[in-house]
Amino acid sequence: MLIMKYHIVTYGCQMNLHESEKIAGMLKDLGYATESPIEDADIVVFNTCCIRENAENHAFGNIGALKKLKRQKKGMLIAVGGCMAQETGKAQILLEKFPFIDIIFGTHNLNDLKDLVVQKRTERKAVVNIKDARTEVEDGISPVRTSYPNAWVNISYGCNNFCTYCIVPYVRGRECSRAAADIIGEVKQLLKEGYKEITLLGQNVNSYNNDGKGGMSFPQLLEEVASCEGKYRLRFMTSHPKDFSEELAVVMSRHDNICKTLHLPVQSGSNRILKLMNRRYTREDYLKEIEIFKRYNPNGVVTSDLIVGFPTETEEEFQETLDLVKEADFASAFTFVYSPRTGTVAAGMEGRVPEEVSKDRIMRLIAQVNAQTREKSLHYVGKETEILCEGYDEKSKMYLGRDSLGRMGYFAGESDLIGKFVKIRVTRASGISLYGDVLSIE
Ligand code: 5AD
Ligand code: SF4
Repeated sequence: MLIMKYHIVTYGCQMNLHESEKIAGMLKDLGYATESPIEDADIVVFNTCCIRENAENHAFGNIGALKKLKRQKKGMLIAVGGCMAQETGKAQILLEKFPFIDIIFGTHNLNDLKDLVVQKRTERKAVVNIKDARTEVEDGISPVRTSYPNAWVNISYGCNNFCTYCIVPYVRGRECSRAAADIIGEVKQLLKEGYKEITLLGQNVNSYNNDGKGGMSFPQLLEEVASCEGKYRLRFMTSHPKDFSEELAVVMSRHDNICKTLHLPVQSGSNRILKLMNRRYTREDYLKEIEIFKRYNPNGVVTSDLIVGFPTETEEEFQETLDLVKEADFASAFTFVYSPRTGTVAAGMEGRVPEEVSKDRIMRLIAQVNAQTREKSLHYVGKETEILCEGYDEKSKMYLGRDSLGRMGYFAGESDLIGKFVKIRVTRASGISLYGDVLSIE
């Protein structure tokens, strides 16, 4: 019997990676039994991202590169979905540029993908299905998980915040919480299956249940999920500073299995820029939140997202961001150059920061963040830390994984250690990575 194969190309964040696991689950149900290299696939799915221009350009380049293969393999289906496909008018542009695309699907109706593939098998024309709004949560799909020992679990979809630079609310729609009982049920099942780390996902986990559909607040949900049986780690992302609460810091401190890492994107250290970004907190509010978090979780670390070159940002305002990075003592941070997104408020603002100025600022910002990360790594040398083993690095011939604070650790080992909690003594730190000797395995 001929085995049908699939290939999924994912762009963007954890949210998209998990969505691709759900796409794989649906393709399996349709008889696409295994993943394969792109050349051998019977269906190729591009799960796109449009949060910054380079993510879009990347997807456009990769889709275009399939033209020749599609000519040789007429039966191969090409589907494009995700945030970019959901953008207003993008489906049309995609079809004009790449008439060989077979299916275009949006972000609001992932469950429909199965029907679209079946429909396309008998239809000549491209099948396009983009809905204006989400009508249901994506329950009922069994994902093909690819990140053992970690498992991603959605707790909410969409975002109501409308930060002026951000396209997410336009392409992911209004915030919609999943029922707590369903989330807890999924987590219990995953733990039974042997997953050792659960990451709860939402664009803004702190506003979970603001729509009343969850049944409990985020700190309550976290408490419930942390109380399941077994040895596992619990992480969550992303938190919006405007919805941070002391209750969350308290719940984090009460459960050893909740990793003491708070990913709290600040975006800018300047109050004027934060206002223009519609972030609804000040630098002072933000620092106060970190103080509260650390009061309850003294060994905790904070990580962040930062944008440079937002319209009208001055050198002094950029300096305020640099100062905040130090003052907030970030353990690491994702750094971005502002990218105008059509349809957002900021895209219409005057005062674009020249590209070379933004480039210079991001280089200085990255240098500062890296210096802090390296400095923190050095504190580990000579100490013990527990790594959850995630994989094997062929290059260094070492196992690797992260400690509960998110530090990458490498160590030598003989048996298959993936999914095990491995205590190491750190002998050396290099950049963000730790190297050590195994003390015990659990
Ligand atoms: N330009 C640059 N960075 C952006 N982000 C979101 N939108 C943009 C944009 N238009 C960044 C923010 C956010 C992270 C996921 O992506 O820092 O927290
Ligand atoms: Fe975008 Fe702001 Fe929503 Fe985050 S909180 S997804 S940055 S609009």
